[in-house]
Amino acid sequence: MTATQDRKLRLGVNIDHVATLRNARGGVHPSPLRAARMAAGAGADGITAHLREDRRHIRDGDIARLKQEISLPLNLEMAATDEMVAIALTHLPHACCLVPEKREELTTEGGLDASSHVAHLAPRIATLVEAGIRVSLFIDPDPGQLRTARQMGAPVVELHTGAYCVAADDQREGELRRIVEAAAVAAELGLECHAGHGLCFETVAPVAAIPNVVELNIGHFLVGEAVFTGLESTITEMRRRMDAARAGIEP
Ligand code: PXP
Repeated sequence: MTATQDRKLRLGVNIDHVATLRNARGGVHPSPLRAARMAAGAGADGITAHLREDRRHIRDGDIARLKQEISLPLNLEMAATDEMVAIALTHLPHACCLVPEKREELTTEGGLDASSHVAHLAPRIATLVEAGIRVSLFIDPDPGQLRTARQMGAPVVELHTGAYCVAADDQREGELRRIVEAAAVAAELGLECHAGHGLCFETVAPVAAIPNVVELNIGHFLVGEAVFTGLESTITEMRRRMDAARAGIEP
């Protein structure tokens, strides 16, 4: 492997919001499986999906099919509950990312407070690690949380980039510095370091340039932006089919 390949930054594509759109009509379109296949074809290194307690987007059946039918590694984001651990042990995804979950939140608003929940988290991390699953903890870029992750035996941390992404212009540099410093602490502790949440075309470059970060997980922006890059051709195709039908031509 060359030095450049060695330093390659992996992209995990989060397909949750394809499922959000599907669920809005209760049918099967748009299919998260089809999105995952497209992500694979477009150069994604992994598929990320968050099975929330309320099943608001990804559902149990999606996890089963993503594991069985998609060749890319599956990163299952989940709360550290016994129900979710049991689901992970059933499907054995490549990775599990443990996230905090509140029913009333719109998205995962902050990182896991690992330091306050060691007694709860440590045995569940151990169970997943023993099953051969790569466990990561989704935490704020805080050295104390990183040290706790290390003590609990999690091999990976994912740094929450949300505060950096939404920061006002005069705050963003400081938020980026927190991520850079946390990534350096992760390297010192021997933790593999990932990052994600809220990343878009404008915010991705400084995070992607941090050498210790080896994986980014990105979802909402990709699905939202795809509306604009795909809407024109989809409307054009609908127009063509309608006009063909009126003219009595096979579409
Ligand atoms: N990483 C984790 C742990 C997340 O919970 C999420 C959101 O589900 C993401 C990355 C992706 O965030 P976004 O959808 O804002 O790109």
